[in-house]
Amino acid sequence: MKILLIYFTGTYNTRYLTDKVEAEFVRRGHIVDRVEIDCETPVCDTAGYDLLGFGYPIYGFNSPLPFNRYTKKLTIRAGQKFFIYKNSGETLALNNASSRILLRRMQASGAVLAGEYHFVMPYNIHFAFEKDFVREILDYDNKLLRIMAYKLERGIVETLESNIFYDLAAAAVSIQKLGGPVNSFFYRVDETKCVKCGLCVKSCPEKNIRFEDGKVKFSHKCDMCMRCSFYCPQDAIHIGMLDGWRVNGDYGLAKLDREGPPAKPYITEESSGFYECYKKYFADIDAEYERLFGLNREPRELAPEELAEGRAI
Ligand SMILES: Cc1cc2nc3c(=O)[nH]c(=O)nc-3n(C[C@H](O)[C@H](O)[C@H](O)COP(=O)(O)O)c2cc1C
Ligand code: SF4
Ligand code: SF4
Repeated sequence: MKILLIYFTGTYNTRYLTDKVEAEFVRRGHIVDRVEIDCETPVCDTAGYDLLGFGYPIYGFNSPLPFNRYTKKLTIRAGQKFFIYKNSGETLALNNASSRILLRRMQASGAVLAGEYHFVMPYNIHFAFEKDFVREILDYDNKLLRIMAYKLERGIVETLESNIFYDLAAAAVSIQKLGGPVNSFFYRVDETKCVKCGLCVKSCPEKNIRFEDGKVKFSHKCDMCMRCSFYCPQDAIHIGMLDGWRVNGDYGLAKLDREGPPAKPYITEESSGFYECYKKYFADIDAEYERLFGLNREPRELAPEELAEGRAI
């Protein structure tokens, strides 16, 4: 297949996931092109691709605004196959509603959903995940990635169930529309820490940050992607009303991925509270992985009726 991956990323988790999606498809002999969205990305030509893949991080149970703006401009032909690989910090079912805008648009163009997959990645806001937890998450991402590629190749369609209540709730808490422009009035750089390295200015996907009179200044086109504050080497950027949820510092995903899962499972039967939702998410992936690939991890060719029983993940 010839595959085009179109994605938005804030703090590069989705970019990392896209690297892995690309590598998996290339390993399987497919041709992969990719487009990373920022405010200057020209509209790409989707003609000639067998499959389009859309990747994004979930923001307040919604797809990011720059992603929505960009995908709205795409020309999509009737019959075009597409899949979604979205990611977020936790697995609440409300996150499923995040793809409703894209799904509506694609269906209106007559495009055909080939599958929808939700990967977990570490939080870039709220609180930093522990390293062992990230290693476990990446291990499950690797399994889900393989399940996804296997099913997409065979035309097995996985869907994620949303409903009208989730859709309405997600629309109601769409924090970016007001949150970005308003919250950015309260962004502040700690001048005692800032070393004027220019990284935030250079890397903002909305070109929303500039140097003025030797100081870092913000305009109000912010999409709340958190890239500026997350990667500031001095942890000097205060993110207004969300500052109590600020997470700063690269997780070093590639290194943690190479290290593999932790020696002792991070999520166990005893996990509770915030961690509760991962139990079912991980168990579902384990069960499907075993069903498709067996314990020896070799791909099994299932009979069509077995494949048709595919479970939603
Ligand atoms: C403004 C904002 C809102 C977020 N909302 C959610 C959310 O509703 N659910 C969730 O699980 N994660 C949420 N996250 C976490 C991100 O989805 C997650 O860390 C993702 O992997 C970031 O990907 P990126 O590095 O490509 O931007 C949010 C992050 C930000 C910055
Ligand atoms: S990234 Fe941090 S240290 Fe560098 S210019 Fe921006 S605020 Fe200052
Ligand atoms: S100002 Fe910061 S949070 Fe807002 S869009 Fe730019 S990099 Fe992202």
